[in-house]
Amino acid sequence: MQVNGVPYRTVWMEGRTVRMINQQLIPHRFELSSLENHLQTAEAIRSMLVRGAGAIGASAGYGMAQVVLEAPDDDRFMTYIESGREALRRTRPTAQDLFYAIERVYAAALKGATAAQARLLAVEAAEALADENAAAGEAIGRHGAELISDGARVLTHCNAGWLAFVDWGSALAPIYMAARQGKRVSVWVDETRPRCQGASLTAWELNGEGIEHTIIADNAAGFLMHRGEVDLVIVGADRIARNGDAANKIGTYEKAVCAAANQVPFYVAAPMSTIDLACASGDDIPIEERSQDEVLYVVGRDDRGELTRVRMSHQGAQARNPAFDVTPAHLIKAIITQQGVHKPTELPCALV
Ligand code: MRU
Repeated sequence: MQVNGVPYRTVWMEGRTVRMINQQLIPHRFELSSLENHLQTAEAIRSMLVRGAGAIGASAGYGMAQVVLEAPDDDRFMTYIESGREALRRTRPTAQDLFYAIERVYAAALKGATAAQARLLAVEAAEALADENAAAGEAIGRHGAELISDGARVLTHCNAGWLAFVDWGSALAPIYMAARQGKRVSVWVDETRPRCQGASLTAWELNGEGIEHTIIADNAAGFLMHRGEVDLVIVGADRIARNGDAANKIGTYEKAVCAAANQVPFYVAAPMSTIDLACASGDDIPIEERSQDEVLYVVGRDDRGELTRVRMSHQGAQARNPAFDVTPAHLIKAIITQQGVHKPTELPCALV
């Protein structure tokens, strides 16, 4: 996708350095960050400088490649690789793409007969993952665009656009593709408390693509569905269980319940790498709990242009901050992957 006419990926590698768009600053500033080693890349994932399942997957893949590039060329080689792998695995628990990417690069490195070969194979695997991620987003866009008719009003939650991938995105890819096919599309953007990825990131992306969009408070979605002002819902996923249950940003489940109550089709868009065959159902998906400060404070730009953090509740107030929830398969009309549009209970399970 382009930012001010310049094509960007969300994350990429230059030599031993991982480069990424700093998502903590959007929409107020557009800056690139450079992570010089795997510990910096792990911290970027943990602190959500990069976020969104696909983007953290690609970043973790590059981080794992950094581990192999950094490993000392002596008998500490494997110990270093195991400890770097663990550091990356500990960053965020829910997004399956993170684990998928780390393990693929790790497995590729192990095939090298020498340290030099392992380094080459690790970088190749990380680059292949990023390319596949971008290609999957485009294919999801093509399949999903068929579900969007001219004039459709789509509701989405959180940010599952190109910032959450390497390119294109998952939930937003069908919208981008439909718009490029000449369809008129408008988007209801859930603000997505507590971190407001909808208001900050999704609205910024849609603005860049020239797509009509309106930010709504999270609790306005049910009202709009009941009024008949939403034609379909498309969201992304952080992990999909074998039975089609899908974990995504907290609040997604509520949207699915409202959609079912109002006969609004509810779709999940995700690449095959998000499916975790080891999870029989959504009950097995680990759900990240984050700091209560994300609920107690909001961060934004004040009228003088300064980024400011303000507290919203009384001193001493307690908050709980689960970052994801699980939408059961029976509330999902279909899951859009790079292979097509599937009933959630009939997912293709041939993982790459
Ligand atoms: O906490 P985040 O911002 O990483 O959560 C992102 C989401 O929940 C997205 O909807 C999800 O990753 C799917 S998009 C690839």
